[in-house]
Amino acid sequence: MLSCALALASCSGVQSALDPAGGDALRIYWLAVIMTVGATLIFFAVTGLLLYAIFAPPERRAWLGGRNTIVYGGLAFPIVVLSMLLPYGLIVMRDTDVRMPGALPIEVVGEQYWWRVRYPGEDERPAFSTANEIVIPVGRPIAVSVTAADVIHSFWIPNFGGKIDMIPGRVNSLNFTAERPGIYRGVCAEFCGDQHARMAFDVVALEPSAFEAWRTNQAKPAPEPDLPQLVRGRELFRTGGCGSCHVVRGTEANGLFGPDLTHVGSRRTIGAGQFPNNVGTLAGWIANTQHIKPGVRMPSYGSFTGEDLRALAGYLESLK
Ligand code: CUA
Repeated sequence: MLSCALALASCSGVQSALDPAGGDALRIYWLAVIMTVGATLIFFAVTGLLLYAIFAPPERRAWLGGRNTIVYGGLAFPIVVLSMLLPYGLIVMRDTDVRMPGALPIEVVGEQYWWRVRYPGEDERPAFSTANEIVIPVGRPIAVSVTAADVIHSFWIPNFGGKIDMIPGRVNSLNFTAERPGIYRGVCAEFCGDQHARMAFDVVALEPSAFEAWRTNQAKPAPEPDLPQLVRGRELFRTGGCGSCHVVRGTEANGLFGPDLTHVGSRRTIGAGQFPNNVGTLAGWIANTQHIKPGVRMPSYGSFTGEDLRALAGYLESLK
């Protein structure tokens, strides 16, 4: 009983295909349930018949040896069951991943080992980039275009549907609609190198008005630091050469190699879903990237003093 409850409890959650929150996830969920339950019932029925055929007294199991067993059990039953399952599977396949009119376009690029996320301009709203976090409005279809910058990755948000490969030089698409607000977790589902397992992202589904507010804020340049400590942090960011890999819109930092940090302080996590985002984890990350996530492109900046790190991390954290 307890183990059953535990098994069921593990089915819900922020990263579970068994807890569909919209899109194709519900259709795929039911396909999986019907296939699994059906296969289990058939397995037990066949095993039961087999045991009966072996152990029942010969006069009682005689009926099993006739031609009917083959005609009905071996031919008719599989033909009927498979002829129903195949069209059902094909219909699910046809109805998944349909691009809806009015969908919100989002572009995601898989990189070793993080996610570049771009929101193209739409009507009057300007385009902008962010990283490792996809914010979406509830109820509006989302059209995600994915590709990769280096090796093959795979984009997967279990609560919203199936996986889609991210292949360098090719654009694949994935469509879904979030049905309830919440925070979900996406992962890389294709081995892509040392830190494949540490390549996750958050999907934040907001009410449409909250999404518009978020979008308006993200499109703005970075806020000006308003404390001496933060001004010092920005200066360290500049002199440390951070701007050759990172963009902070509104400053001279315009590197395109790493994640856009314009509003890094507004994100929930750092390091592609590895740590909650705060001054302490940011400072630890800057000083120890190669210890925390060996093989990432960002070197460890171990030469900063503790005070410098606090100022630098404080500045980044202030970029809301
Ligand atoms: Cu990217 Cu695995």
